Amino acid sequence: MTHSHLTPKVSADIAVKHLRSIVGESYVLTGSADLKTWGTDWTKVYEPKPMCIVLPLTTTDVSKILAYCHDNELAVTPSGGRTGLCAGAVASDGEVVLSLSRMSQILNVDSTGLTITAEAGVATEALQDAAKKVGLFFPLDLASKGSCQIGGNIATNAGGVKLIKYGGTREQVLGIEVVLANGSILDMNVALRKNNSGYDLKHLFIGSEGTLGIVTKAVLRLMPKPRNLQLAIMAVATFENIPKILTECSLAAISVTAFEFFTQVAHKIVLARFAGARTPFAVISPFYVLVEIEQPGSEPEMESLLEKLFDAGLITDATIAANSAQFREFWGLRENITESLAAHGQVRKNDISLAIDQLDPFVKELEKLLGRIITTEAASTVASAAVDALELVLFGHIGDGNLHINYVSPKERNPKEFQAAARLIEEEIFKLLTKFKGSISAEHGIGLTKKKDLHFTRTAEEVAWMRQTKKMWDPKGILNPGKIFDL
Ligand code: FAD
Ligand code: MLT
Ligand code: ZN
Repeated sequence: MTHSHLTPKVSADIAVKHLRSIVGESYVLTGSADLKTWGTDWTKVYEPKPMCIVLPLTTTDVSKILAYCHDNELAVTPSGGRTGLCAGAVASDGEVVLSLSRMSQILNVDSTGLTITAEAGVATEALQDAAKKVGLFFPLDLASKGSCQIGGNIATNAGGVKLIKYGGTREQVLGIEVVLANGSILDMNVALRKNNSGYDLKHLFIGSEGTLGIVTKAVLRLMPKPRNLQLAIMAVATFENIPKILTECSLAAISVTAFEFFTQVAHKIVLARFAGARTPFAVISPFYVLVEIEQPGSEPEMESLLEKLFDAGLITDATIAANSAQFREFWGLRENITESLAAHGQVRKNDISLAIDQLDPFVKELEKLLGRIITTEAASTVASAAVDALELVLFGHIGDGNLHINYVSPKERNPKEFQAAARLIEEEIFKLLTKFKGSISAEHGIGLTKKKDLHFTRTAEEVAWMRQTKKMWDPKGILNPGKIFDL
């Protein structure tokens, strides 16, 4: 698959030799197993076909690599932990994969200014651990935290499970260092909390999916750690009750640190596919909501909330995690959905968002569109048998208006036929989403998988400005060609 109009001025052999002269012989990989591993991300749909993998150690290395690729019109695909879900880090067209994995130093932890400074290749979990070590808290949290890197989080503007309270990646970033397409270094790596001196350019790079520059360092915010977290899992009979539960939390002035949901289909798949997963409920419910709150005082806020929710008929059952093991177990029921789905079958993912007050009307229309309610496992009334055979698995960061819709089929099903069937529904859902002024990507990004659908969310004028922006920062189009849009 060709994504770019670049005409490389050197052969692959010459390029590899030169790149080795920058980073050292062993840090340019060309073996077929390496090309396969590093040329793809979690999506595993596109055939990986990079030219080579280059592993710089310093910003200067990155600068030299980009200057060379720029001069010689070589496409570069930035690569983090490769946990991305939209094929943003996929190299399927002879690209130089530029991996930040060796740039993995935490450079400074400032407990007074509440900042942490790190190279781009530091894993998200390592930042959390470093903050914990000094009694502080780094709030970005996602199930892929052990593998994804802060550079990848910044490039995707990752959301995660704590966005409702602390914001997403963008809100944690105070400064970044970026290497531009021509190799020049743009140092915006300052730890200022307030800085209204002109345009704040760092925000352009956050969420730009490696198409505008390579993030090499970042200064991020730290927080005092939350006190006394309480976690409850609630059984809910109808989707329309979920936003109402959120309203009750707000009216009770509760500090909600996570508000997640999943359907019974998602729950059953985790129980079947994830070793050790257990449900606290005797009776299966159509929906489950996981609510985590900070309860710093002596008042039993979670108990009072649950009482209120039972009295109002918004929940049918609930359990509060009694100890840290149960806390992890309940979180696992939500966080292990992605891995359980991957073990269960072929998966195509949507990651949509809506304004909170539009969630329930949207889901009602969605059910009409599907001809089935979203918690049933098998469909009966959808026109096409191919579509009918898909399992729909919904979950997500519902407190942020973010719904993950997953289309699932057994592994034995013909992959092309599976993708085509899922696409049929997906397109209808995106049309419906446009009517509700929602987004086709809440947090995963556009990458290769969703570029044809960008128009459902962004106006032609917005896309035209995006193209102008890309041309300004990367006039030759060497950075991650084919991602977000084609030039
Ligand atoms: P990659 O996948 O390696 O790359 C992602 C994009 O960033 C690509 O376009 C790549 O070219 C670019 N890139 C990477 N590093 C750099 C850099 N240094 N400079 C410039 N560009 C760069 N996402 C969420 O938002 N919320 C979730 O809750 C969430 N949960 C997940 C759970 C699981 C189990 C999995 C597998 C994924 C999940 N994701 C989630 C998706 C993914 O983890 C995030 O998008 C993450 O931010 C990607 O980081 P990465 O380092 O793996 O990046
Ligand atoms: C999640 O919320 O678990 C992630 O975004 C991963 C996914 O959507 O599968
Ligand atoms: Zn998510």
